[in-house]
This record gives sequence, C-alpha cells and structure tokens, in this order.
Amino acid sequence: MIVRTAASGFTHPTSSDITSQAAYQSRREWMQRLALGAGGASLAAWAGGDALAQPATARPGKLAALSGARSSVAGAATPEALTRYEHASAYNNFYEFGTDKAEPAVNAKSLPTRPWTVAVEGLVSKPRSFDIDALLKLSAMEERIYRLRCVEGWSMVIPWVGYSLAALIKQVQPLGSAKYVELVTLADPKSMPGLRSNVLDWPYVEGLRLDEALHPLTLLAFGMYGEVLPNQNGAPLRLVVPWKYGFKSGKSLVKIRFTDKEPRTAWNVAAPQEYGFYSNVNPGVAHPRWSQATERRIGEEGGLLAKRRKTLMFNGYEPQVGQLYAGMDLSKFF
Ligand code: MTE
Repeated sequence: MIVRTAASGFTHPTSSDITSQAAYQSRREWMQRLALGAGGASLAAWAGGDALAQPATARPGKLAALSGARSSVAGAATPEALTRYEHASAYNNFYEFGTDKAEPAVNAKSLPTRPWTVAVEGLVSKPRSFDIDALLKLSAMEERIYRLRCVEGWSMVIPWVGYSLAALIKQVQPLGSAKYVELVTLADPKSMPGLRSNVLDWPYVEGLRLDEALHPLTLLAFGMYGEVLPNQNGAPLRLVVPWKYGFKSGKSLVKIRFTDKEPRTAWNVAAPQEYGFYSNVNPGVAHPRWSQATERRIGEEGGLLAKRRKTLMFNGYEPQVGQLYAGMDLSKFF
C-alpha cells in the first residue's frame, strides 16, 4: 500500500482513494448547510453521520466538554469539504504504533489514556502538572476546521475540538528568558510496539518558537468531529499547528517545557537536511526528495488520478501567520 522512500524518511502514499457517490452527495449537503450558516457543532454532527455510513474503527464517542462552539479565531474555518471521519481515523502517521498508515488505528487501541498528566515546566514562574480532566476544563472548547498538510504530499480537512495552546501557557507564566517550547509525547514501550524500531529517537519531540506557540491558531486538541480524539489521532491530547507540516503537531503529549534554546526535534535529529525546525508549509521549498508544490487531498474523487491541488503558502494561513517570519530567508530556515 505504501512505498518506503528512504530508511529513515517518511513514506509516500501510492494507494488509491475512491470516494463514493454517497460521500459526494454528503459533501454537497455540507456545502448547502454552510451556505445556510449552520453552526460548528452541527457541522461536526453532520461529519459524524457521514462517517457512520462506513465505520472503519470503533469510535470513542462524545464527551460533554467537547461540544465546542464554532471558533471566532481568524482562519479557524474553511468552506472546504471535510475529510471523512473514516479516512482521518484510519490513514495515520503515528510511528510509535507502526510506520504503515493503517497500523496506528489497530495498534493504538490499547493505549491507556487515563490517568494522564501533562507536566508543564522549564522557564516559567508557575511550573505544574495538569491532570487531563483539569485540562479539559481549563478553557472553553471550540471547533476549528483546519487543513492538515503532511510533508509527504497529502492533505486532509479536519474539524478539531480544543482551545488555543496560549490558554495553557498563560497559566504557567513563561519567564522573559523563555524563547522556545519543547513538546514531548508519550514513549511507553508497553503500549507502543513502534518503539522497538529505531526509525526515530524516542520520545517523539517537537518544538515551536514561543511566538508560534502563543499564536491563537496553535491548537491544543482533545477531540475531532465533535468526539473524543481516537487514540490513533493522538488521544488524549495533541497539538495542531495548521500552517506547518503535520509532523510538527505532536500526538499524545506528556510534557511541555519552556527553554531558551531551540529544542532538538525528532525528525530534525533523524534527517536534518530534510526536516527543518520550522517546517512551515511552503510550496516554493522542495523536500530534497520530492516537490512540495502540490498535494493530494485524501478521499477526493479519483484517488491518485485526481488532479493534485496547489499547495498554499503557510498552508493558506499566510494572512494570519506570515508576519511571524518577516525578514527570514525561508529556504534557509525551512
Ligand atoms: N506525533 C507522534 N507522537 N508520532 C508521530 O509519528 N506523526 C506526525 C504527527 N504527529 C506523529 C505525530 C505526522 S508525520 C503527521 S502528518 C500527523 O501527526 C498526522 O496526524 P493524523 O494521523 O491525525 O492525521
């Protein structure tokens, strides 16, 4: 189904995704609902209904805290058709559970997501550990419909539920010396068979500059499609940074550390010439082994034969985030 392009690199999808007429009709219905001004929660409900037609895996279900209202953050909605739930929850990158796209949905079933704590530490005035239930109540949940562009050249449109990472950052009060945020994800050999492979140095670590972490679009997500995050999508909480390649959005977070130095991130350590610290979506800067000018939208009619879309600068979020990189040479800071 997928072809490995390098021993330590990402994979390129070669499978065909053919979407049924029913899905097409549903999309049209969604567009009509959007035109009628349907609210975020009902959009999510619609997306769920569509997916229920052909469930791929057992769904974790609803959680009261996740009945998020539609977000008012600029850029947090798109009129594009949602990716179907069964694609978003069955075509995953979560190498701790295997490197094949279908493996996380199967292998992550046994991930224990309760109890769960997230340690927030480093250069902050008020370091503390948050229990997952406290995090669920920390700020009002919102639904945000974001494009997700993977560095491998495919994309999805996913309705996430969560709140800005900035709300959590405010609680711990970063010191003036804090310039970066390191995001560490779970590495549990008991529940994660992928850790037996040395494809990456575990744990999977990601990082952002503090101003990127504080940007309102940077989302701490607890749910998607109005439901609890499936384990394979990063339960019980993950990051979503929509203007960066998907690998910057670490799943199943356990630690957030504020530092004065650029964090060493998992993919950057594995292949520094291929995966930069910034990894902003940029159609003008090719990956050394493939172009980033276009992308394949997962689930789109025609599968691999479908016309590829043009990739947008900063994944289409340039009006919101472009100023963060003013004056930077983005081919150097890729
Ligand atoms: N987080 C962890 N912990 N491990 C991973 O392998 N893969 C990343 C990112 N977060 C990954 C991760 C990559 S490459 C992508 S494209 C997105 O998760 C995919 O998210 P999705 O499976 O929810 O679409």
